[in-house]
Amino acid sequence: MKEHLEMEKQLAAKEAVKFIKDNQIVGLGTGSTAYYAIVEIGILISSGLKIKAVPTSTKTSNLAKSLNIPLIDINEVTSIDITIDGTDEFTSDLDLIKGGGGALYQEKIVALKSKKLIIIADSSKKVDILGKFKLPIEVEINSFDYVLNQIIAINGEGEIRMAPSSPYKTDQGNYIIDADFGLINNPAQLSNKLSQIEGIIGHGLFINLADRVIMGYNDSTITYFHKSSLL
Ligand code: 5RP
Repeated sequence: MKEHLEMEKQLAAKEAVKFIKDNQIVGLGTGSTAYYAIVEIGILISSGLKIKAVPTSTKTSNLAKSLNIPLIDINEVTSIDITIDGTDEFTSDLDLIKGGGGALYQEKIVALKSKKLIIIADSSKKVDILGKFKLPIEVEINSFDYVLNQIIAINGEGEIRMAPSSPYKTDQGNYIIDADFGLINNPAQLSNKLSQIEGIIGHGLFINLADRVIMGYNDSTITYFHKSSLL
């Protein structure tokens, strides 16, 4: 099963990098699926592709550097042409839960700056309704108790992510609360509620951000989910 999923991730990644063109600014996601796309981009760079890349985490930045992918600081670009990233869950509406890998805030800023966000996924990530995967919420470290109570007030439950004996810290030095809201029938509404809670830096609901999901399947086929025509 696990090997199938790795093959599916790789299939989706190989397909997604075909959309990258010379001279583009490319956002690089974080996680085990994005890993395959970054490796593919490294191969394209060694064959002459010219791009500059914006990483979404220190881990991705280090991987990109090891593959000679030229990097540029996110604040030096007004927009990113195309970003390829993974997801923890997605629906056919292209709503996502992200942040399992702990890079959700930086990933969201990169997604918001991207003209095109391509999500790559294995088939285990497709769901009818978001919410089986606990929703990662990045919180400022002095606010986590307040935020936990606010999550309860909107009918959720949350716990601080540990790593393993002290709280996990994001690249930005924040904590993550993994929150359970049951099945999320109205992700946009929950996203709005969470955005109003002081102390929350960002949350893993990505609504109306993805342009396309490319899902690999274990029979070597690829399924596209998309909202708008792309590229
Ligand atoms: C990192 C993320 C990842 O994209 C998400 O967790 C999926 O990871 P993987 O590809 O390893 O399953 O949001 O913050």
